Amino acid sequence: MAATPHPDLTDIGACVFDAYGTLFDVAAAAARCNDALGDKAGPLAEIWRTKQLQYTWLRTLMEEYQDFWHVTGHALDYAMESLSIKDDALRARLMDLYLRLDAYPEVKGMLEALSGAGVTTAVLTNGSTTMVTAAVRSAGIYPLLDHRISVDRLEIYKPDRRVYQMAVDDTGVEAGRICFMSSNAWDVCGAANFGFKAVWVNRFGQPAEKLPGAPVAELKSLEPLPALLGIG
Ligand code: LAC
Repeated sequence: MAATPHPDLTDIGACVFDAYGTLFDVAAAAARCNDALGDKAGPLAEIWRTKQLQYTWLRTLMEEYQDFWHVTGHALDYAMESLSIKDDALRARLMDLYLRLDAYPEVKGMLEALSGAGVTTAVLTNGSTTMVTAAVRSAGIYPLLDHRISVDRLEIYKPDRRVYQMAVDDTGVEAGRICFMSSNAWDVCGAANFGFKAVWVNRFGQPAEKLPGAPVAELKSLEPLPALLGIG
């Protein structure tokens, strides 16, 4: 029997996902280097991610685009320096792990349910084309995503409206019929403000951002998404 869909999600033409933090666990790289990092693994992951995002916003404002791979490397350099870690081999290992981050455990089954129901799926990410292709292949979800859309094409980062417009252009589905999932609250605001039906995957129990744009629903993981759409 079909589940009852959320009242704002009754006419969805495509499901579009953020990548890092939403499909992929960005803390997984540092966690896998626990042997070398010890109790610095947590702080390193935190500073690395924070700087990575800040650099995307700052580079967009400065009109000095470099792709997400380079930005991720610069952010790692900052994080390592701030924790007094000098280790070129460890840096290389952490960057390599970023190409094959763990997908969250529910991701594959959730995408299979959407695909099985004939829903168009896409990833829309700051990640470079090379990075996101490597990550979706490594996680075994490449065939379950109809579109892989990177900001590389525009050389501008989220939450610029032009980034969200790429999902409309590539899927051929109007903004109001796109259901957009992100664990990044600022990305949810950007997407909702653009006109998507945004679902906040609030994995870490964070407070909402005080920014324009509100989600239509909030989940703790992607597991309940098919039911929210009336699938299954
Ligand atoms: C992305 C970042 C924002 O995948 O997580 O676009």
